[in-house]
Amino acid sequence: MLYDNHGREMTYLRLAVTDRCNLRCFYCMPEEGIHYMPEKQLLTWEEMMRIVQQLYFLGLRKIRITGGEPLIRQGLMEFLEELSRLDGLEICLTSNGVLLEKHIPQLAKLGVRSINLSLDSLDRKRFHQITRRDDFDVVYSTMMRLIEADFKVKINAVVMDGKNELDILALAQLTKQYPISVRFIEEMPFNGSGKGPAILKWDFIKIVDHLKAHFGDMQAINLSYGETALRYQIPGFKGDVGVIAAFSRTFCGTCNRIRLTAMGEVKTCLYDDGVFDLKAFLRQGVSDEDIRQTFITLFGNRPKDGFEAEKNRKGIINESMTSIGG
Ligand code: GTP
Ligand code: 5AD
Ligand code: SF4
Repeated sequence: MLYDNHGREMTYLRLAVTDRCNLRCFYCMPEEGIHYMPEKQLLTWEEMMRIVQQLYFLGLRKIRITGGEPLIRQGLMEFLEELSRLDGLEICLTSNGVLLEKHIPQLAKLGVRSINLSLDSLDRKRFHQITRRDDFDVVYSTMMRLIEADFKVKINAVVMDGKNELDILALAQLTKQYPISVRFIEEMPFNGSGKGPAILKWDFIKIVDHLKAHFGDMQAINLSYGETALRYQIPGFKGDVGVIAAFSRTFCGTCNRIRLTAMGEVKTCLYDDGVFDLKAFLRQGVSDEDIRQTFITLFGNRPKDGFEAEKNRKGIINESMTSIGG
């Protein structure tokens, strides 16, 4: 089992398989001027599989495929098929839902049961303003197909002042009828601009207060180990609502996440600026044992939380989430 120097078990890999995306979400990247990496600067599927196998050897129990938008990269479904052969590994996907619908039967067949969908507004016009693309209808219908097919669906909504605070209650209301988890996320400064929101008006406390003011008392749900969201059930509702204090960083104490960017950089924390170029290391022709030892060394020297990681950075936060994978 891989542990970090604070005794946290590192059993969850978040693997970004591409830095490309078919949306242009305001909180994630600028409208223009994003430079995507040429394919050869990304890890190949074979390299990713090799890394996953070494982490599996070290006790990996869960992998979340992120991006960019993972379904943009050719070969994803074949990769998932290979992953599904690793016994006992939970495979999860985070997607914007635009290209997902036709893959639903195959995902179900491969045992990918947990899908997190980004959906920041239930208003078509606001969805368009936030994502800079007019794809609301397809994302909404995909969410419905996933629910019908019995997937474990979590909705991610980044709350932005002046942009979608009107959507908080409407999105929460979805959980009345549907057994899904709707999570409201604090906006983080990973938007490619080098600056975050001037002040974070919608922090997790304000979001919870807003929900309580409307829905009354909500029942807190026990956190599972490593979970990011504080979740609540509104009495009588089928699903639950949650808040992710991604900027306030309240959940670092049980952080079990290993991150690998599409370019093959290892991150021991979302807020670090990349601690190791695993792609270059792999391409020197290293052994499997070298790969495992590298993870043991890197996680033996991990900051205790996202604040320490941010302090240790060489420069300011100017990356886009699309290059990190969330
Ligand atoms: P599961 O618990 O596996 O469902 O995943 P998740 O909720 O962590 O994953 P998802 O990809 O849906 O991310 C939801 C939001 O949580 C995104 O904005 C992530 O960037 C944020 N997030 C996920 N992990 C971390 C983390 O380790 N630190 C911080 N600060 N934010 C995180
Ligand atoms: N702040 C908070 N969450 C973000 N995401 C992308 N960019 C940001 C940001 N700047 C979220 C998306 C997606 C998840 C992987 O990360 O909503 O659902
Ligand atoms: Fe983990 Fe860093 Fe996120 Fe804290 S801020 S939960 S340490 S990735």
